[in-house]
Amino acid sequence: MQAIVTGSQGMLGKELKAILSSNNIPALYTDINPGENEFRLDITDREAVIAKVEELKPRVIFNCSAYTNVDLAEEQEDIAARINGYGVENLAIAAKANDVLLVHISTDYVFSGNNDKPYLPGDITGPQGAYGRTKLLGEQLIISSGCRYQIIRTAWLFGPQGKNFVETIFKLSQSRSELKVVNDQHGCPTWAPDLAQCMADIATKPEYGIFHFCNGPACTWFDLARAVVQDAGHDCTVKPCNSTEFPRPAQRPAWSVLGSSETYRIIGWQPRKWQDAVTQYVKALKS
Ligand SMILES: NC(=O)c1ccc[n+]([C@@H]2O[C@H](COP(=O)([O-])OP(=O)(O)OC[C@H]3O[C@@H](n4cnc5c(N)ncnc54)[C@H](OP(=O)(O)O)[C@@H]3O)[C@@H](O)[C@H]2O)c1
Repeated sequence: MQAIVTGSQGMLGKELKAILSSNNIPALYTDINPGENEFRLDITDREAVIAKVEELKPRVIFNCSAYTNVDLAEEQEDIAARINGYGVENLAIAAKANDVLLVHISTDYVFSGNNDKPYLPGDITGPQGAYGRTKLLGEQLIISSGCRYQIIRTAWLFGPQGKNFVETIFKLSQSRSELKVVNDQHGCPTWAPDLAQCMADIATKPEYGIFHFCNGPACTWFDLARAVVQDAGHDCTVKPCNSTEFPRPAQRPAWSVLGSSETYRIIGWQPRKWQDAVTQYVKALKS
């Protein structure tokens, strides 16, 4: 067994499964609610995690599992921390004990959002909300475990295998003549299949540490929504607005642009522009 994948039923996990399978890389696919021919593994169950890693001794653990409900995390920070923090620590402890590489996904939400240039992996963190705090805890626990790790921070994930902003805008714009979308938050949309490919590729490289990976260029949610509606050809006007018009339980960073060029250099390729991924995805949504 070369790999264990956790969270294999999530948006990213499904993409990674497709890539590893098509490359005939033997892997055990696991999730708390596994799919057919998959294995149930709850990453918060330390004994089960350690036993599985010891039994299989894979080359790499790809962690795609997470608590991802950003708003609900504000009232469930303990549950989010159990998964994003201590669950991740379990993977790191098992990785350390068996000399296994841990490839883990983190988020732009570990940053405060008060920058005016792309965040680099070494920049000071300062999460604004519970989700970001728990993801940062996971990063810290991986680092202090002493395992070999590749932590990849990403942002604004979208793809065909899970609920996401692009699909939501596509559906809403089918039936509405006007949509207001926030234009004061900047980030880099990321095509889940490209991120999964990055995980598979970086795991073959001898570089360890924290990395950033997003598609480019930076934009606002308004820019992204407008591109979706344009590609869809829906008769709907997208209007820019401020975040104050859409108060949410969790505050979002105003600036969460991640600088990914060092990761592009390491993996040896640069992902497509997010606009090209949106065009491809919207075409599939229309058919
Ligand atoms: N989506 C984004 O915009 C975004 C942005 C930045 C970073 N990220 C990060 O990217 C990664 C992948 O995100 P995603 O969107 O693919 O997430 P997702 O679709 O929510 O998938 C997460 C998977 O983990 C599973 N899971 C939850 N608790 C678990 C546990 N205790 N043990 C094992 N599996 C468990 C979930 O199962 P259930 O659904 O049954 O709970 C789900 O299948 C995460 O680390 C996330 O923090 C996402």
